[in-house]
Amino acid sequence: MSTLQAVRYSRGKLEVLDQLRLPHEFHYDDVSTRQEAFDSIATMRVRGAPAIAIVASLGLAVELFNGPVAGNTAQEVIHHIDEALDYLKQSRPTAVDLTNAINQLKTRIRSVGDGKEAIIEAFIAEAEKIFERDLETNLAIGDHGAEWLKAQVGATSENTVSVVTHCNTGSLATSGHGTALGIIRTLQANGQLRQAFCTETRPYNQGSRLTAFELVHEGIPSTLIADSMAASLFRTKKEERNIAAVIVGADRVVRNGDTANKIGTYQLAVLAKHHGIKFIVAAPTTSIDLETETGDGIKIEERRREELTQVTGAAIKADGGVDESSKVRVATADQRIDVWNPAFDVTPAELIDAVVTEKGAVEKCADGKFGFGNIMRERWAQVVGH
Ligand code: MRU
Repeated sequence: MSTLQAVRYSRGKLEVLDQLRLPHEFHYDDVSTRQEAFDSIATMRVRGAPAIAIVASLGLAVELFNGPVAGNTAQEVIHHIDEALDYLKQSRPTAVDLTNAINQLKTRIRSVGDGKEAIIEAFIAEAEKIFERDLETNLAIGDHGAEWLKAQVGATSENTVSVVTHCNTGSLATSGHGTALGIIRTLQANGQLRQAFCTETRPYNQGSRLTAFELVHEGIPSTLIADSMAASLFRTKKEERNIAAVIVGADRVVRNGDTANKIGTYQLAVLAKHHGIKFIVAAPTTSIDLETETGDGIKIEERRREELTQVTGAAIKADGGVDESSKVRVATADQRIDVWNPAFDVTPAELIDAVVTEKGAVEKCADGKFGFGNIMRERWAQVVGH
């Protein structure tokens, strides 16, 4: 069984799985320009913080590879690339991986010196590195997360644990393996997992459309719940199912550890604290924003009203099967109702037990803040300075 792939890439060609058609249809879009990359991200055909950064970086790499590229001097070429990156940055505001990738690419092209071709080559190679590194990063997050759960809650093959996850953080949201879902995947591979519960993740259903699909695809014992069932799940099944942790991903973890992730994450953290269940954020260091001090500084994207008032899916046939070729849109509310639709919320650091990165699990220091300086020395020194 092959794992799911959000992105297929070879030099000069990028294909991106259209996640709006999942789980019923598998269709890859060709993405060969900055506009197509922007569109793919803004319309959520691809989503998840690392996948967004990868598609923006590789989309521009393909455009540059296939040319033409305006300008001849180093300054002109850098200007051309900067303009494209600044445009791509506007595609979605909350996930910081895109900004971090853009900063990395801008720094790299400035380190080359002269030569149009050399600058383009350096850009393409750096974008490819972002893509390749992401998989290694996720595998490491999986290992650190599984070790942390072994140390903290005794998750072993003799004492298997159940976990709850929210939104989609698997292969479809990254270059492979996943972050929070990566830890679940590793727990399963190690024999430490009893069961994974995934939320629907209203209003856009990343959990039921994508995570449920990935869990079934991977053969991981799993159960889907509506977001509103989490409290009852903890109260009635914590002991019986040995529910030990909530594991979520992140769109932006700021300097003090406050974490923006899919709307509904915060309420899970509050519930986990009340029920004595560990709350883990699985995030690559590319999702950490040291420039922003607290969660109050995070811009939260607000999305279309129709995400709450309508739903699109495949039709169910008379025999109960899914008609995979059909697409129906139905109203789920009075279309005149006022709607508030923030796509993310911020979970305060005080509710988070660990941020699991590729460099290890980070816990809070005595001052209640996460000590990211220990795993990101260089960036910490640049930004914070002490
Ligand atoms: O709006 P989305 O679907 O892009 O939101 C995705 C999430 O919130 C994920 O949890 C997050 O990006 C982490 S993906 C590894």
